[in-house]
Amino acid sequence: MARKGKNNPWAKADRFTKKAKHEGYAARSVYKLTEINTRFRILNKGQRVVDLGCSPGSWSRFVLEVIGPNGSLVGVDINPPEFRATQFLLKSVFDVTPDEILEALGGQADVVISDMAPLTTGNVLGDHVLQLELAQCAVDMALKVLQPGGHFVAKVFEGEDAQAFVQGVRPYFEKTKRVRPEAVRRQSREFFLVCTGFKPPAIEA
Ligand SMILES: C[S@@+](CC[C@H](N)C(=O)[O-])C[C@H]1O[C@@H](n2cnc3c(N)ncnc32)[C@H](O)[C@@H]1O
Repeated sequence: MARKGKNNPWAKADRFTKKAKHEGYAARSVYKLTEINTRFRILNKGQRVVDLGCSPGSWSRFVLEVIGPNGSLVGVDINPPEFRATQFLLKSVFDVTPDEILEALGGQADVVISDMAPLTTGNVLGDHVLQLELAQCAVDMALKVLQPGGHFVAKVFEGEDAQAFVQGVRPYFEKTKRVRPEAVRRQSREFFLVCTGFKPPAIEA
């Protein structure tokens, strides 16, 4: 059962929470993406970016700061964000279609990012399975909307199927790396899969 108040380690304000508040970001999770971007340089001016599970909107805001006014950002979430992407689709990732995303984006994506997470129950295996379904859906979407050479980042909850998931994604990218940014809380089982250089699957004749 979810813990409330000061005994809940997830609610504890740490230096990233304070920094996010000070800098006006909707969530401390922005510093996971900023660290990933500093290390892998996946975001650049003028890109088309898809943000899956974008609410409350801290990743979206950071992305917009980097891609600038000539870029395009489509956010998807089942909850409305505080900070809106250029285009926002209030839908589950299981229901939104690649065509809807491509139309909203104005072309194929340079980058797909997913910070999607289910409402966690505290059941480690159950949460792992639910989260992996979201991550797999993000991969399936990325394979359909990314342009060759594009990049993909997804949150993954560690667990018995995580490595098989990583292995399943590997063939589609030049490089894949598991990353645990500093802003990930110590007690969290999450890591991020950072994939660069999309290699589209060959179309069978
Ligand atoms: C950790 S939050 C994302 C935080 C966001 N990156 C930010 O920086 O503001 C995870 C998000 O995943 C979303 N989510 C969960 N299931 C989803 C689904 N089926 N389709 C789309 N979004 C989903 C949740 O609504 C939640 O907003």
